Amino acid sequence: MTSVPAERTTRKQLGAFYSPRTLVEPMVSWAIRDRRDCVLDPSCGDGVFLVAATERLLVLGAKRRSISQQVAGMDLNLEAVSVTRTALKEAVGFRSSHLATANFFAARPTDEAGSPWAAVDAVVGNPPYIRYQDFNGGMRAQALVSAAQAGVRLTQLTSSWAPFVVHAISFLRPGGRLALILPAELAHAQYAEPLREHLLRCFREVNVISFRQAVFPNAQVEVVVLLADGRDSSSKRRLRLVEADNDGDLVELEHLLARSVVFDSGHQPSKWLPGFGENAGVRCLDELKEKGLVVPLSETGKANIGFVSGANDLFVLSPADASMWRLPKASLRPCVIRARQIPGALITQRDFSALRVADDRCLLWLPRRRLTRSELAYVRHGKRLRIQQRYKCRTRVPWYTVPGVMVPEAFLTYMSDEVPRLCLNEARLAAANTLLTVRIESVPRHLQRAFVGAFYNSATLLSCERNGRSYGGGVLKLEPREADRMLLPALEVVERHKDDLSGLVTVLDRELRKGRSGRIRETISAVDDLVLQRGLGLSADDVRNIQEARKRLVERRLQRAKSMRSHRPTNPPSVVSTIG
Ligand SMILES: C[S@@+](CC[C@H](N)C(=O)[O-])C[C@H]1O[C@@H](n2cnc3c(N)ncnc32)[C@H](O)[C@@H]1O
Repeated sequence: MTSVPAERTTRKQLGAFYSPRTLVEPMVSWAIRDRRDCVLDPSCGDGVFLVAATERLLVLGAKRRSISQQVAGMDLNLEAVSVTRTALKEAVGFRSSHLATANFFAARPTDEAGSPWAAVDAVVGNPPYIRYQDFNGGMRAQALVSAAQAGVRLTQLTSSWAPFVVHAISFLRPGGRLALILPAELAHAQYAEPLREHLLRCFREVNVISFRQAVFPNAQVEVVVLLADGRDSSSKRRLRLVEADNDGDLVELEHLLARSVVFDSGHQPSKWLPGFGENAGVRCLDELKEKGLVVPLSETGKANIGFVSGANDLFVLSPADASMWRLPKASLRPCVIRARQIPGALITQRDFSALRVADDRCLLWLPRRRLTRSELAYVRHGKRLRIQQRYKCRTRVPWYTVPGVMVPEAFLTYMSDEVPRLCLNEARLAAANTLLTVRIESVPRHLQRAFVGAFYNSATLLSCERNGRSYGGGVLKLEPREADRMLLPALEVVERHKDDLSGLVTVLDRELRKGRSGRIRETISAVDDLVLQRGLGLSADDVRNIQEARKRLVERRLQRAKSMRSHRPTNPPSVVSTIG
């Protein structure tokens, strides 16, 4: 393949990142099967996919002159199209007549023979990845309308790539193939669910390749490769998921795909990640749920984000600062604002006293209607710092009253390393939005310690892994809605073993505080014996399967984080960007 002489600055402006050719070439070879195939890259950038496509057509025996009519591309960016034109000319020696500077969402497939936008045998590429916050204005509206016309209802929270894929499918002939690099959100994001369903409706076979190691380390975006085969060609639908180590594994694509876990119609998992649907541990968890032995948190309680002050630096004070400003005691609410302030499975009055002694920021200023003189001085201080102009503050009246402050029964870590942490709030503290608050009012007071202890069983922790998301850094992130879906042992089981569980929660609390991973794992095993075996009646094999399933998901995210940190691209010959 010819190297593509794009200007570095242009690439930067496009959000372009170098990708290994080992990713692009096998995708194109898979998508193009015949020398007469026509191929489209609807966001061609500097043309890396189109150049690979011309090379593939040449290998298959296509004539150079006809290739210029078989390969079509467009891009919103004029400069990118011009780079593609030069690259194609170098590759085949002809100017391609099928290149345009255009907005793909405005393009429509035509039936006109010879038109660049007639239906094609293969659509390839790497669609623009613009997150919903930046994907706005006319283009988002246009994208959502075009997806809706194809029967796919995407929400306003969608990123650009999802409607792009829907639109790309409409350019395929029956039997055609789609080969795209997409953000890993395809596999797990809620907003991409209608797209996942659409892909399964449209194609005979949908292959998704995810990667253990980072493929685009510099882009900080985790990607998957989508290879969808047989547009509208069968009523049987098959999903195949496989995990590669890295892009190098795609060189032997047939071998890699042969290792896929296959799901036939009606048995497809909600998330398209290996480990999410196919193993014995996960099946066992599903059975426990069906039998009502484990139930979603939403049946017993509710997770939420903590208070959003808009300026913790002003509103959350250390005891020394509160006393310096002479803020009245009655206006100060004990609170936590960082996960490290709740190091264990319980937070007690003693812990809170320790925070005060350490002069940690742990007092939320929540004034009553009539401000004291010193509070008026504190408001003036806030104004001098222009806090009243900050987004959250300027949208409330008065700007210094933090809304939504309450005392939950427990906290849950929002971002977790190996083990997400549920912590019983015995100190009756409020929490900022760096933590999740968990209401469990329906759990009787005398059972709450045991309830928190029971959380630390491998089935519940597995459900956290399956419901949460992991990003580049390896942390598990649980949004309130995802936390509401985590599966907890039924209350009868907690009641039956309350004494033992209360004992175990004390052990766990100690080990979590000390951060001794080995001892934490041992204690989780002890909770498994009690809750899963004795409480729920699982066999030792079932428990082991659940433990294994969880371990695989934890290792998967931690390993990926490690590779993100250590992997650097060595050979940057072509560009594939993940941000449009
Ligand atoms: C991720 S890059 C892919 C470039 C190329 N296919 C590759 O793999 O290197 C996304 C490209 O989409 C282009 N783009 C963004 N919005 C577009 C739109 N609405 N229609 C066509 N192209 C668009 C950007 O200019 C950028 O070049």
